[in-house]
Amino acid sequence: MPLSPIPIPDSITQLPIPGQTEQLIDTAYERIEAFMLSDQEVIENFVNCDFHLIAQSIEWIFENHLLAGNRFCEWGCGFGVAAMLAAARGMESVGIEIESVLVEQCEDLAELVDNAAEFYCGSFVPRDVPGLTDLAAEMKHVDVQEGDIYDEIGLSINDFDLFFAFPWPGEHEFFEAIFEACAADGALLLTYRGREGTHLLRKVG
Ligand SMILES: C[S@@+](CC[C@H](N)C(=O)[O-])C[C@H]1O[C@@H](n2cnc3c(N)ncnc32)[C@H](O)[C@@H]1O
Repeated sequence: MPLSPIPIPDSITQLPIPGQTEQLIDTAYERIEAFMLSDQEVIENFVNCDFHLIAQSIEWIFENHLLAGNRFCEWGCGFGVAAMLAAARGMESVGIEIESVLVEQCEDLAELVDNAAEFYCGSFVPRDVPGLTDLAAEMKHVDVQEGDIYDEIGLSINDFDLFFAFPWPGEHEFFEAIFEACAADGALLLTYRGREGTHLLRKVG
């Protein structure tokens, strides 16, 4: 089986969060709230995940030595907080977001909290992946029209070791299909599943 689940215990919610990370998360929630209450046009596909749980999930991945390397990529990064949490944990981290107004928010927040994550405006959906067209046709919350951004980043999907995404309900299979088709053997895909918490898969050869 090319995708192997790695169960994440419920006890990760007990993992301590360092003070600087708490500050990053608090600032991010404040910024998101201000953005939502502003006169900005509503971005229908944006909703944020539980940043504390993502920080704890990344910490658990580190503590269990699950990473094959140090590169992190957030697919559809919104405010880019997961990418910043990975960068704060020492990873070389990028976030990809299709909405330019959100990429500006990512960059402002990263500057404010002095975080090294980098952000790119474009699509994480790779071109020309065999078998993806049928799944893509069913996506309501993922933009599948734009060309992908990996050339601009200077890295391919198979250069990353840990991906994070928060798929809308019913859309996680699409993210998994991209991961299965394009990621390197040994790479990990962490997804946020709302009330079900976080879910981790490893691509195995
Ligand atoms: C559910 S939100 C998750 C935001 C963030 N990852 C989080 O967990 O807080 C999904 C994001 O994906 C973005 N998005 C949708 N299609 C995309 C695409 N093809 N490439 C990059 N971003 C995309 C949306 O604009 C939205 O901000």
